[in-house]
Amino acid sequence: MADPIIRTEGLVKRFGPFTALNGIDIEVRKGQVLALLGDNGAGKSTLIRILSGVHKPTEGRIYVEGKEVVFNSPRDAAAAGIGTVYQDLAINPLMSVTRNFFLGRELYRGVRPFGLLDMKTMDEITHAEMKKIGIDISDPRQAVGTMSGGQRQTLAIARAIYFGAKVLILDEPTSALGQKQQMSVLKTMMKVRAKGDIAIIFITHNEIHSQLVADSFTFLALGEVIGCGDKNDLEHDEIRRLMAGGAEIRDLEKELAAVTAD
Ligand SMILES: Nc1ncnc2c1ncn2[C@@H]1O[C@H](COP(=O)(O)OP(=O)(O)OP(=O)(O)O)[C@@H](O)[C@H]1O
Ligand SMILES: [Mg+2]
Repeated sequence: MADPIIRTEGLVKRFGPFTALNGIDIEVRKGQVLALLGDNGAGKSTLIRILSGVHKPTEGRIYVEGKEVVFNSPRDAAAAGIGTVYQDLAINPLMSVTRNFFLGRELYRGVRPFGLLDMKTMDEITHAEMKKIGIDISDPRQAVGTMSGGQRQTLAIARAIYFGAKVLILDEPTSALGQKQQMSVLKTMMKVRAKGDIAIIFITHNEIHSQLVADSFTFLALGEVIGCGDKNDLEHDEIRRLMAGGAEIRDLEKELAAVTAD
């Protein structure tokens, strides 16, 4: 079998005396979605910050397509094909869809700094790239502020892919959205998955969403992997138990039953 697009080995991250991650191994292959699940403070964001070149691991290694990589900055990670879509999306609502798509990477006609922005080509590319993953915006010059939350997520995803992401990392892309918009983002993810050449790491608190789109699961709790497996190997009950940080639902019921009014 081909190498995973991305694989980590024994990643450890300490902040002073505090261990946020303690030996994390994950891997994702082309055309596959890995759901990264875990409660608040489990270490999900810390892990993706390491994969995105924001933090350096205290220990451990990262391999991209079988080769070890060391990221000294987010730029290094982007150059290696890691495309991260953060919750805040880094999108400016006052600017057009096209301007957001090309933000910082604009196309010019003529020689810079005297060249003019090539808006026509940029509009065409933006429209085509968004359409490829399922959103047909009528006017790429409309302000992003007029788009729905789900469409904005799609814009950020289309942009990451167009600029070379082989690994797409999505940090809770559905958490701030209503039901319909959540489905639209899940559909976008399935479109990207179907392209077959990109690996997706999907961070979520939502067990149902993870089951709808993921091929494999890794559960984190307090910086450690407490469970992992492929879709076919994990029972629903087991996923639910791991989502609860490894606690049995019965224990949680007991805990709640013990709450009194005082
Ligand atoms: N820069 C930092 N300095 C010190 N501690 C940190 C730092 N970043 C994260 N931590 C700690 O590491 C732990 C893991 O945090 P992290 O943000 O990775 O969790 P998470 O799984 O993303 O949680 P959430 O679901 O709330 O987003 C937390 O206890 C957090 O306080
Ligand atoms: Mg987080």
